[in-house]
Amino acid sequence: MIELKDLRYVRLGSRDLAAAAEYARTILGLELVRRESDAIYFRGDDRDHTLVYFEGDAADHATGWEVAGAAALDAAGAELEAKRIQVHRGSRAECEKRYVADFIAFADPSGNRHELVASPRTSGTRFSPSRDCGVWSFSHIGLRTTNAARDETFWTTVMNARVSDRIGAAPLLRIDEVHHRIALFPSQHAGVQHVNHQVHGVDDVMRSYYFLRERGVKIVFGPGRHPTSGAVFLYFEGPDGMVYEYSTGVRLIKPEEEPGYRPRLFAFAPESFCMWGSRPDIPEFRT
Ligand SMILES: [Fe+2]
Repeated sequence: MIELKDLRYVRLGSRDLAAAAEYARTILGLELVRRESDAIYFRGDDRDHTLVYFEGDAADHATGWEVAGAAALDAAGAELEAKRIQVHRGSRAECEKRYVADFIAFADPSGNRHELVASPRTSGTRFSPSRDCGVWSFSHIGLRTTNAARDETFWTTVMNARVSDRIGAAPLLRIDEVHHRIALFPSQHAGVQHVNHQVHGVDDVMRSYYFLRERGVKIVFGPGRHPTSGAVFLYFEGPDGMVYEYSTGVRLIKPEEEPGYRPRLFAFAPESFCMWGSRPDIPEFRT
């Protein structure tokens, strides 16, 4: 089994890097780390970067996951190949673009691209959001799946993910204490479905709600509270139709709770996504 230690970054293709970067800085509130000729790096916490927009197709997404180190990366590559999953070893130049010592890339059964990384770089300077958004951590991603049961099996048998809860067929998966780092939502195609950043509190969620509305950013869900993770949330639209989420108060499942933990099943219904009555304007959440 491949042990994912952490969700490190998400890489999103864009045909308009300048516009995407402007959004990440002025609306999303992330810190601009660096501009390179074909990519712009941002961060939402103390790591080197957590979000990269690169010159490319807007449907081209990749998610970076940290493994324990060089030996774990080699073992992961061998394990994927033994399961007949094609693995690409990152070249020196590709590793430099990701600020990691080494990585391998592969696609999950739906075709979502993932990168397992060894020794990603941590920043020596304190994270400084570009606006008072309250963001303190890049925390989870929603992923589209063309077969939720098949992909749940992949994440929980090939990888170390555990199901925290399910909304209908959609599993919310953890790899550490946080209720979910990945959520799989049925769709006709692969791709990152939403990108989550944690904010400090409800005040930040509501402050951003008014901030975004005033600037004409489309709010697609919330403010609300997820009955699954308990988090207070706000979802809104970003460049190329990507959905971004701020949330706070996500449930933690502590190591001592692991042995007896059983995932709960929620109906695929609006009240399973929001216990306050907000209705999602997000295709994958529509019931
Ligand atoms: Fe989320």
